[in-house]
Amino acid sequence: MAMWHRPGILIITAGILLSIQRTLTNEILGLKIPPEPVLNANTVCLTLPGLTRRQMEVCMRHPDVAASAIQGIQIAIHECQHQFRDHRWNCSSLETKNKIPYESAVFSRGFRESAYAYAIAAAGVVHAVSNACAMGKLKSCGCDEKRRGDEEAFRAKLHRLQLEAMNHRKGVVHGVMEHLPAEAPGPQDSWEWGGCSPEVEYGERFSRDFLDSRELYRDIHARMRLHNNRVGRQAVTDNMKMKCKCHGTSGSCQLKTCWQVTPEFRIVGALLKDRFHGATLIKPHNRNTGQVEQTQIPHRRKPSITGLVYFEKSPDFCEQELHLDSAGTQGRICNKTSPGMDNCESLCCGRGHNILRQTRSERCNCKFHWCCYVVCEECRITEWVSVCK
Ligand SMILES: *[C@@H]1O[C@H](CO)[C@@H](O)[C@H](O)[C@H]1NC(C)=O
Ligand SMILES: *[C@@H]1O[C@H](CO)[C@@H](O)[C@H](O)[C@H]1NC(C)=O
Repeated sequence: MAMWHRPGILIITAGILLSIQRTLTNEILGLKIPPEPVLNANTVCLTLPGLTRRQMEVCMRHPDVAASAIQGIQIAIHECQHQFRDHRWNCSSLETKNKIPYESAVFSRGFRESAYAYAIAAAGVVHAVSNACAMGKLKSCGCDEKRRGDEEAFRAKLHRLQLEAMNHRKGVVHGVMEHLPAEAPGPQDSWEWGGCSPEVEYGERFSRDFLDSRELYRDIHARMRLHNNRVGRQAVTDNMKMKCKCHGTSGSCQLKTCWQVTPEFRIVGALLKDRFHGATLIKPHNRNTGQVEQTQIPHRRKPSITGLVYFEKSPDFCEQELHLDSAGTQGRICNKTSPGMDNCESLCCGRGHNILRQTRSERCNCKFHWCCYVVCEECRITEWVSVCK
């Protein structure tokens, strides 16, 4: 649902939590951050069309996590739109109003675009749920215990190091600096786990429970979807990053504590976009297609699946064909000199283009708020553009 609330601010609600939207709206008009919504089965699961029976069960058990998962799907679809902004199919057909987008044509087919959509949505769920865990927003998960330091031991050690430093350089101690940013640790560095690393395994498991449970059969559709879901999830879990901070007397980094963070979602979107280009066509009679491309990467614990798979040749997306989620490219802005997909010849499918002076508004600087809505600014752009006939 896209609503113009006041000049410059566009709010896209997740479409769920209809009952609280009215209060959200009022608060946002005053531009206050709204109170955190009540996320229970009634406000999340029962107002959200498009859930399968299995998904409804998962949602009823963990409505707060499901709400976060839905937000992850939305973020994923925004990212998909960014990654495909130059393509004839630009992912805007996946932006659904009050439901999850899995009933759209691209999700129900076996195109390359479908493969990307499944992967990025599954990645979005892992990403959003894991981060919500780390932010302490969810009842059933939190920080990763395996990557959590012993706070007391840490304090003691820091204290000891400070005393040592004090004895060493008598009287030049300026107190503890705790907020020096530090590089991720190199192999030689001494560091300890500290802070909160998101429970990414929880996010991964929820993404599996929530999304893979849509598949009731083991036909080629299901095999393709499950595989691509997994590729998407791994794009997040295999690319976790470290952040660190230094502790010690001023300017020093006597002790470094580090925690994991999820990769920027833009990175995940771009990585999967590469895989979109390299996707593999699978054949219905190939019985091994469920586990394709077991690529063993050295120094990695788990063998990693990497490639996206699809089983249907994509349409050209030139003309409007709603049953294929194709809006057609008439009216799209193209670039006469671009070597890429947005080149006028290619984007306009040979129909030619007009040159117009156009003022358009775009959503920009979008921010995702907990929970469940997006606030964007409106950017107005006036320029000469080439537009597909
Ligand atoms: C995506 O394509 C649709 C349909 O052709 C168009 O209306 C929309 O403006 C496009 N979005 C972007 C970001 O180019
Ligand atoms: C068109 O593409 C060229 C080459 O990639 C690029 O330098 C230029 O900025 C683009 N123009 C517009 C209006 O996007």
